[in-house]
Amino acid sequence: MQSAFTTAQSSSPYFDEARSAEVVNARMSENADARLRQVMSVLVKHLHAAIKEIEPTHEEWFAAIRFLTETGQMCTDWRQEYILLSDILGVSMLVDAINHRRPSGATPNTILGPFYIANAPEYRNGSNICLDGKGEPMVVEGRVTDINGKPIPDAKLEVWQTNDDGFYDVQQKGIQPESNLRGVFTSDAEGRYWFKSVKPRHYPIPSDGPVGKLLGAMGRHPNRAAHLHFIVTAPGYEAVITHIFTPDCPYLPEDAVFGVKRELIAEFNKIDDPQAAQRVGLSSPFWSVVWDFTLAASDKPMRAIT
Ligand code: BEZ
Ligand code: FE
Repeated sequence: MQSAFTTAQSSSPYFDEARSAEVVNARMSENADARLRQVMSVLVKHLHAAIKEIEPTHEEWFAAIRFLTETGQMCTDWRQEYILLSDILGVSMLVDAINHRRPSGATPNTILGPFYIANAPEYRNGSNICLDGKGEPMVVEGRVTDINGKPIPDAKLEVWQTNDDGFYDVQQKGIQPESNLRGVFTSDAEGRYWFKSVKPRHYPIPSDGPVGKLLGAMGRHPNRAAHLHFIVTAPGYEAVITHIFTPDCPYLPEDAVFGVKRELIAEFNKIDDPQAAQRVGLSSPFWSVVWDFTLAASDKPMRAIT
């Protein structure tokens, strides 16, 4: 039988190892915002469980604090080291998956990444977004439709990718032409779009900071599988933030930020035919990619991509 003393002790406000999370969570006000109460109590519960399982030494705990401090210190207007940390831990992809459960057949989302720029130059279909002339020429074409195959005209397709040296234009200001390998296209009356560019290649995520050091310490490389980024939007449809991946990249199964989905691996066909190359205005050989985007209907207002 429990004595009055042990009952009182089990709701004690004083810290003890066994009840640590409970003691901390009991301090939260009933009047705190309900969602904040839920978030903080779950975080405290799991954080305390992790600490109990790990049993860190003081030195290890200070190393963790130092890592978080350095991660914050690495952040600037251009560099968000915490997002990079979330990316390499698979958390960015998980949050995205939870928030974008789509009907089967709809194009899935993947990671946005830090190199998206709103208001990139608008181009007519057929234009070439490669302004530095480096890389293997490529034509990308396809249709934007709804999940029943109905064409979506006037959809906006924003595309961006690295150059053949593995850098985005914004990482090499003054080296690459401004807005190199990024642009905005609009689907035509049949939902078709087409543009010229160069075959993307794999490249490392920024790895000169604490996140790169952590990757190295874990025996992981920083490489992303070769891809083109897209954001496809049309009124009445859920915006799709996605990629297409090349099928021959060795990093497909080990993308540093877990961005690869099987449904996003495209076919890249090498066309070694000078007449076909002339017809599309490229040198031979060139790569041909046919890729359709399937949008899910949505009654939610479109929100700005940040
Ligand atoms: C990118 O694909 O551009 C990217 C994604 C996550 C982290 C860094 C870069
Ligand atoms: Fe990228």
